[in-house]
Parts: sequence; structure tokens; C-alpha cells
Amino acid sequence: MNVFEVEKIQNKIQGLEDHIQGVLNGQLFSIPDLSVRDVEVKEPLQHPPKKGLSSKEGQARLLHDLASIELQAMELALRTLTEYHQEIKGTKYLDLLVQLILSERSHLQLCVKGIQDLGFDWGQWPVHMALWKSVGPEDSLIDRVFIVHRYLEGSGLDAADTLLRRLSGVKSNFFFKKDTLQKVRAKLPKRLEPINSALRLRALFSESEIDTLKKYQKETP
Ligand SMILES: [Fe+2]
Repeated sequence: MNVFEVEKIQNKIQGLEDHIQGVLNGQLFSIPDLSVRDVEVKEPLQHPPKKGLSSKEGQARLLHDLASIELQAMELALRTLTEYHQEIKGTKYLDLLVQLILSERSHLQLCVKGIQDLGFDWGQWPVHMALWKSVGPEDSLIDRVFIVHRYLEGSGLDAADTLLRRLSGVKSNFFFKKDTLQKVRAKLPKRLEPINSALRLRALFSESEIDTLKKYQKETP
């Protein structure tokens, strides 16, 4: 099963091990331009206005936005595995990546359940694909690790500490090189949240990574 080409979210969730196992067994999977969705996909500016968080609808909408992010995180990690598994074969990064994919799935499941507990459903609102669109087939493994697993996931830390466990244990100065940042910066979504140095240090970002990122954020209009 190719999770990227499966439409229903529940089938993506259930088919995840099958896809992972297929990759590890040498099966080839095509990567579509956009991973398939069973909900309407729209640019963020075209999304309908949001209700306040004092209403159940506002709360469900927030969880829906988060679910979309977790789904993209799950699929981006799966995409890293699908495209680069040969390069990390036999290293601890392969196991860490598989764990990451599975933990993103559990975040996604929590969000979907939360939406349902509030009396709403996945698909009630449109979603965007900005995270998926920030990567491409031209990326090297280092580009990809930088974009997805340091930049996007790191940005999540600045917004909330719920992503902390995902990154802890993966130590690296190695991935956050200034020349990689220069190479891929045009593709990176602008992050507005202030850099949360304390949380990033706890998640084993180095001081120099954090400084580089702060400088980059200042320079980016
Ligand atoms: Fe997550």
C-alpha cells in the first residue's frame, strides 16, 4: 500500500506499517506531487474564518488544523524513509525515523479523536499542504533532514512543547549547516513564532543552531 496515494485518512493510518515494511523490503513507491487527501485542499488565506476557542467549533477547528499538520509530519517522515532509506540503512537513524513516523501517527490519531469527541469530523474544514510543498525530489538527504526534521519540527517547538519528545535524542550540529540553510531557504515557510531557545536546548539543538536560526528569522521579510 502506498500511503501517499491512499485517500481516506483511516486507511493511511492503518496502512502505515504496510508501507514502512514495503520500503524496508525494497519495494518501490512513487511520490506524487501532492499526497492525496480526502478533504478539500486550499491555500491558507482562502480558509473560512475561525471561531474563538471558547466555542466547541473553534476548539475542533484548532484540532483539525493540528491534525492536518500531524498528517503532513507523518507523511513527510514516511517520505524521508521512502526516498532515503538506502542512505541511512544500518544506522540508528533508520530506527529513529521509523519511530518518528509512528509517533506522528499517534499525534494524528489523538487530534482526530479530539475532533470527534467535540462532535465534529475530519474533513469539516479545508486544509493546506504548505509543509508537504516545502520539499521536493531535488533535495539531498541533508536538505531534507534540514527542512523537515530540523526546520519544520523545530518551529513546532517554538509554538508548543508537545513536539519535544520527537526530537529529543537526535543530537546534531551536523544537520544545521549554514550552507544548507542558504541552499534551501527559498523553500522554507516563514515562521512567525519567536524562537524558543530554552525548549530547543532541551531538544538538543545547539547554541550555534539557535543563533543561526534567530539571525535568519530577523533577515527574512
Ligand atoms: Fe507530531
